Amino acid sequence: MGDSTLRIQDNRTGQSYNVPIENGTIRAMDLRQIKTGPEDFGLMTYDPAFTNTSSCRSSITFIDGDRGILRYRGYPIEVLAEKCTFLEVAYLLLFGELPTEPELKNWIGDITHHTMLHESSKKLMDGFHHDAHPMGMLVSSIAALSTIYPESRHIEDPANRLLQIKRLIAKVPSIAAFAYRHSLGFPYVYPDNELNYAENFMNMLWRMMEPKYVANPALARALDILFILHADHEQNCSANTMRSVGSSHADPYLTTAAACSALAGPLHGGANEEVLRMLDEIGSKDNVPAYIKKVKDGHGKLMGFGHRIYKNYDPRAKIIKWTAERVFEVTGRNRKLDIALELERIALEDEYFVKRKLYPNVDFYSGIIYQAMGFKPAIFTVLFAIPRTAGWLAQWQEMLTDPEQKIARPRQVWTGHEVREFVPMEKRVPVAAATK
Ligand code: CMC
Repeated sequence: MGDSTLRIQDNRTGQSYNVPIENGTIRAMDLRQIKTGPEDFGLMTYDPAFTNTSSCRSSITFIDGDRGILRYRGYPIEVLAEKCTFLEVAYLLLFGELPTEPELKNWIGDITHHTMLHESSKKLMDGFHHDAHPMGMLVSSIAALSTIYPESRHIEDPANRLLQIKRLIAKVPSIAAFAYRHSLGFPYVYPDNELNYAENFMNMLWRMMEPKYVANPALARALDILFILHADHEQNCSANTMRSVGSSHADPYLTTAAACSALAGPLHGGANEEVLRMLDEIGSKDNVPAYIKKVKDGHGKLMGFGHRIYKNYDPRAKIIKWTAERVFEVTGRNRKLDIALELERIALEDEYFVKRKLYPNVDFYSGIIYQAMGFKPAIFTVLFAIPRTAGWLAQWQEMLTDPEQKIARPRQVWTGHEVREFVPMEKRVPVAAATK
């Protein structure tokens, strides 16, 4: 083994450079010294979609995509899903350690204390169109909290940050439930602070005339496990958005709304809704081979399959499959599970998927559970956003307290014109003609 440096030979100039290697990375700024002459800006890296770029140091969530490993703060996801509640896991993500009994009691008390929404949030939500998508309502209502808590802009104050973190973890389920009730045309249900996090959410979703909502314990536990599985996933598209927007020192409500917008896309958290659409389109097990052929022929993707990091079975998908069985014992089996299992079976044997290491991801089975529990597909991504709020906030805190971080500001490779002569109006041609 030589020393921990990378020797770079610039064949344009014949010069060579030694660049330090730390944690399996080189610093992109170390390349800037590589120039063809004094006028040269220096070498940069080009990495669209950050496929090989670490944007931060982090100690929150660890993923080994080749071995199918996911850990929060060092604890395997399987252990946390079995032994913890979601609020315990949120505490772990945010503060780095599992809470002691008194710490957990205080934490639950704090979160429960903040579940109510200001009446102006309710009025804002009343104004949404009757068929507004719940993700649009969620994003806008989270952003609007910025106007209710203007002191949240003081992101440099740790106590202030913590207060907003508690408010967000407490209020996002209330907003999500109001969005759901709004889409059904039902009156909003206020939080019941005697219930735990998942039960209270179910209460706000489904209580009708009964004076007290009593959640089915198996379903409440299943929902809590799903929350644990979705709580964080290192530098994914929405976490990166959270860090990027937060790096401008925007307040945490605007920043979380931005992360939530990133989650809404069908390639990210929106995939769970798309999986159900796909299973509906396939219709029956017999149609699976034809659908797979269509995907292989380049017509669409198999939604809920593939991952930028996992090149093995997503460990969350395994736990979700197990959880699905527990849910179906209460709700009855979702017919779509048979189509999904057949899709998975055929895809995992097919050379196209094997060669590209495409496995089911977290979104493949979650929608089937949600549907069995009575949720409509449009709310699925909102169910993802509730627990991910804790992860986003942990990433946000880590970014703000990291002395190496600054406002996120990538470079570009310029592909446009050199300086051009101004064209007077009478000589301009329509854009369509100009590009012919
Ligand atoms: N179905 C069919 N082919 C696929 C799929 C899929 N779901 N995913 C990737 N591929 C192919 C892709 O066409 C490419 O083929 P080729 O090498 O012939 O061009 C190859 O596999 C590599 O794919 P990629 O697009 O370079 O991979 P990526 O890392 O950029 O994308 C992904 C990752 C998750 C966006 C993608 O796999 C995908 O679109 N999956 C479907 C949507 C989905 O399930 N998203 C949820 C992700 S997990 C939870 C979350 O993040 O919220």
